[in-house]
Amino acid sequence: MKKRIPAFILAGFMALSLAACGTTPASTAPPPASQPAALSAAPSGEKVVIKFAAQGDSTPATQAVLDAFNASQDQYTAEWMDMTNDSGAMREQLITSLKAGSADYDVVSLDVVWAGEFAAAGYIDPIDTYMKDAGLSVSQFNAGSMASGKYSAKQYVLPFFPDLGILYFRKDIVSAEDAAKLESGDYTYADLQAMAEQYKGQEGTTDGFVYQSSQYEGLVCNANEFTGNWQDIKGGLEEMKAMTDSANTPADILNYTEGETANSFIKGQSVFSRNWPYQWGSVKAEGTITQEQVGIAPLPNGGSVGGWLLAMNKNSANKEGAWELMKFIATEEGQKIMSTQGGYLPGFNATLEDADVVAGNEMLGMPGFQNAMTTTIARPVSAEYSKVSDALQQAIYKYLSGSADIDTTVTAVEDALKG
Ligand code: GLC
Repeated sequence: MKKRIPAFILAGFMALSLAACGTTPASTAPPPASQPAALSAAPSGEKVVIKFAAQGDSTPATQAVLDAFNASQDQYTAEWMDMTNDSGAMREQLITSLKAGSADYDVVSLDVVWAGEFAAAGYIDPIDTYMKDAGLSVSQFNAGSMASGKYSAKQYVLPFFPDLGILYFRKDIVSAEDAAKLESGDYTYADLQAMAEQYKGQEGTTDGFVYQSSQYEGLVCNANEFTGNWQDIKGGLEEMKAMTDSANTPADILNYTEGETANSFIKGQSVFSRNWPYQWGSVKAEGTITQEQVGIAPLPNGGSVGGWLLAMNKNSANKEGAWELMKFIATEEGQKIMSTQGGYLPGFNATLEDADVVAGNEMLGMPGFQNAMTTTIARPVSAEYSKVSDALQQAIYKYLSGSADIDTTVTAVEDALKG
């Protein structure tokens, strides 16, 4: 079967890039086209180190891509500067460094929700010329990811990996009838709650459903999903609170990020979990359960669009090397490794049709995953996204932890969404 290029991210990311265009930061002057000749600084025979600031990866994929890059290179060697997995905290880490004009990182990984802000602030370099010289065009990559890093008619990013929120379930526990219902996407959070209650305890599981409820960016993604893209704020948050307070979620669900979620699911502790595609790779890499035990479904009201992008530090002393690394990770070879070893959704369109990828990332062909790609929802669009996100996180977390009532919370969420 021919794999379709996911059109799911386009709408949301288009909007994100447009929001970024609305800002008028002081430093948007294009950086000089020519780069410092840092290469000649390396002693002959030694490779120039290209520093890549990227979040931790619980799959082997990122390390494997860097190993493959290094093996392919005479001139450069990539070094992974392991960053936090908390998107908001990583944004701050990067801003602190880039704002100070530091050259500590050559290539940076950026969350789709704040990449436009980095371009607008002049922290990263446009890559149009590099792309042209390499014979690459924007249309070869995931459209939504590319759009989220386009600013003032210039392209600043290549996709590292596009993301979408999906439901993982234990196929060996859930009945065939319930599995079909889940995969179709035709179910509600109340149905999920009932199933979590029904199946919890089977095959040694201790929890029904795990997802992200800690106070950080992941909470915004999950609340976006529970509320159906903020269409039903009251109903969705009440559903989330009912889930929090029930015996179907762990007692400390309010501390759960993607890490705790994946850990629970891949160790066979939970029947259902909400996470990003990488959890498929984590099951393969380090699961006590196997991929045969896992089913994939759309979330009841759609999955949040996410993803990470690659960009070049404007102050990098090794821009040619930075580009070589970006290009390697984002095109055939890199994306193939990301998808087959990490479960990631490829951001280079041709990779979706690569026979090794089709065979090596079984999830991409699963009907539940393909349905999930058609029902994605974007997070709020704002030139000051991190402020909106912080306000949402605070209001929702207060409610879930029992220190605010629903009406106050709905008002606070509505205010936050006004940006
Ligand atoms: C994933 C998504 C990213 C999102 C984050 C929230 O990394 O790719 O877009 O912001 O999760 O925790």
